[in-house]
Amino acid sequence: MEVTVSRKAHFNAAHRLFNKNWSAEKNEKVFGKCNNLNYHGHNYEMIVNVTGKINPETGYVIDMGVLKKIIKDEVEEKLDHKNLNLDVDYFSNTIPSAENICIYIHKLLRKKISNDLNISVTLFETPRNFVTYPSN
Ligand code: NI
Repeated sequence: MEVTVSRKAHFNAAHRLFNKNWSAEKNEKVFGKCNNLNYHGHNYEMIVNVTGKINPETGYVIDMGVLKKIIKDEVEEKLDHKNLNLDVDYFSNTIPSAENICIYIHKLLRKKISNDLNISVTLFETPRNFVTYPSN
């Protein structure tokens, strides 16, 4: 029997959406305010879902203290109060859209969580706009 356990976390970060292969005009047209030359910030909220079998010795799918620390060390430390375009190598060639940030967070967590467990990440860029990876 598999169970999903979830933990919420958040970080603040700045970004700018632009495609370096496009003209300034096309970037402005496609990305609008998110193309702002001097960047802009978001209060990102995320939900990390971990699905797997319950360990009969602990009653846990994953120790939430361990999950909390992995999220803190792997995601919050790397992204919180950062300019995603300038401070995070992954986004030097990847547009830091919510979709791509969500995939990146999944990658960071995947490295630290047992392969017996499935992970999905939902990232809120605003209270109304959010993305999930992998897609359901
Ligand atoms: Ni934005």
